[in-house]
Amino acid sequence: MATAQLYIGLMSGTSADGIDLALVDFSANKPTLVSSYYQAYDEETHQKITSLYNPTDNEIDRAFNLDKELAHLFAQAIKQFLQQQDLSASDIIAIGNHGQTIRHRPSQKNAFTVQIGCCQTLACLTNINVIGLFRQKDIALGGQGAPLVPAFHQEIFSDDGHDVFIVNIGGIANISYLPSLNSHNQGKTLIGYDTGTGNALLDDWFVSHQALHGSTNHYDKNGDWAATGNVIPALLTLLLSDKYFTLPTPKSSGREYFNITWLQHYLDKLAPSNSVLSPADVQATLVKLSALTIANEIKSIAKTAKIYLCGGGVHNKTLKGELNQALSNYEIFLTNQKGIDTDNVEAMAFAWLAYAYNKKIFSNSPVVTGASKKTTLGCIFYP
Ligand SMILES: Nc1ncnc2c1ncn2[C@@H]1O[C@H](COP(=O)(O)OP(=O)(O)OP(=O)(O)O)[C@@H](O)[C@H]1O
Ligand SMILES: [Mg+2]
Repeated sequence: MATAQLYIGLMSGTSADGIDLALVDFSANKPTLVSSYYQAYDEETHQKITSLYNPTDNEIDRAFNLDKELAHLFAQAIKQFLQQQDLSASDIIAIGNHGQTIRHRPSQKNAFTVQIGCCQTLACLTNINVIGLFRQKDIALGGQGAPLVPAFHQEIFSDDGHDVFIVNIGGIANISYLPSLNSHNQGKTLIGYDTGTGNALLDDWFVSHQALHGSTNHYDKNGDWAATGNVIPALLTLLLSDKYFTLPTPKSSGREYFNITWLQHYLDKLAPSNSVLSPADVQATLVKLSALTIANEIKSIAKTAKIYLCGGGVHNKTLKGELNQALSNYEIFLTNQKGIDTDNVEAMAFAWLAYAYNKKIFSNSPVVTGASKKTTLGCIFYP
């Protein structure tokens, strides 16, 4: 058997729920997920992250303090993980560190995206090479710098016989369309973009109505609270009219756009009836919005395909129910059926990006991000 080639992928997503680690072996033909680890953030860290999503006071001090603080939390999680796996730092070739996005503005004149969780500090703390800053070069080449996962999805989920969609329901939802490997000669290509809201807006609305549902969770567990509400058709129509949903691709988004202020703008438009809207009905409407904006995009791309879901949103039963209903003509699975747990796909992708950096493999997808050329993403930081 070939000697293991182990990389760790590290993801801290838009939901700011916690740190996802994936230990991946690249010694075989296809990357193999060896094991995974999750460390939830405490309330204070979650607050520190989410408070930086939008312009606020003293951002530079707060962002760069958190940059270091997160690197320490990432390092602690990696140490625990290695201990649990009975591995040492020297067994790991590199860590692929996505970091934590705190601002993503890919479409303005001076486009930029900011991920914190200092790679250099992480390398020194773990004594492992760290590859990070994956989004920078794609942005420098005129791309959106996001989503980056479609290239990885193509690498491991493409199918000879069928067109495939991978739907990642994270804070923001994104889809990858992977044409069947047999159909490339029919002119079909990889497609991938952020469809819009996923869980983040659901989380924000849920947390701001704690007094009503009584839960101190960051999210509506299983979508139980949403299930007590009824979709408000007039609100749904208004939200669906937002310009993001009809923007041409390439496109990507974040919490600086889809947030409570964005929602409030549409709630105000419904005024004065706004005052009588039930918060649980609004939550039900937001769930439907996430499901429909994913489903509409899928339907516009391919009439038949297998759909594989991943990301934290798959645990929201109400959201999953809405998706099943909106996509009843398609076969829907979880990525588990392709051998990768729904909660590990994103972190695994960042292990692959680190591997691609070391092997000088092109890892961006210009057709997805709009970058002017194919390139290898990332920068390396040594201990
Ligand atoms: N049991 C559950 N019931 C309902 N929602 C859940 C449950 N578990 C997780 N979630 C949702 O999933 C979110 C976390 O998902 P995930 O980690 O995929 O998103 P993310 O961190 O934004 O990732 P990314 O940005 O990489 O897509 C939580 O914030 C929550 O909204
Ligand atoms: Mg997460």
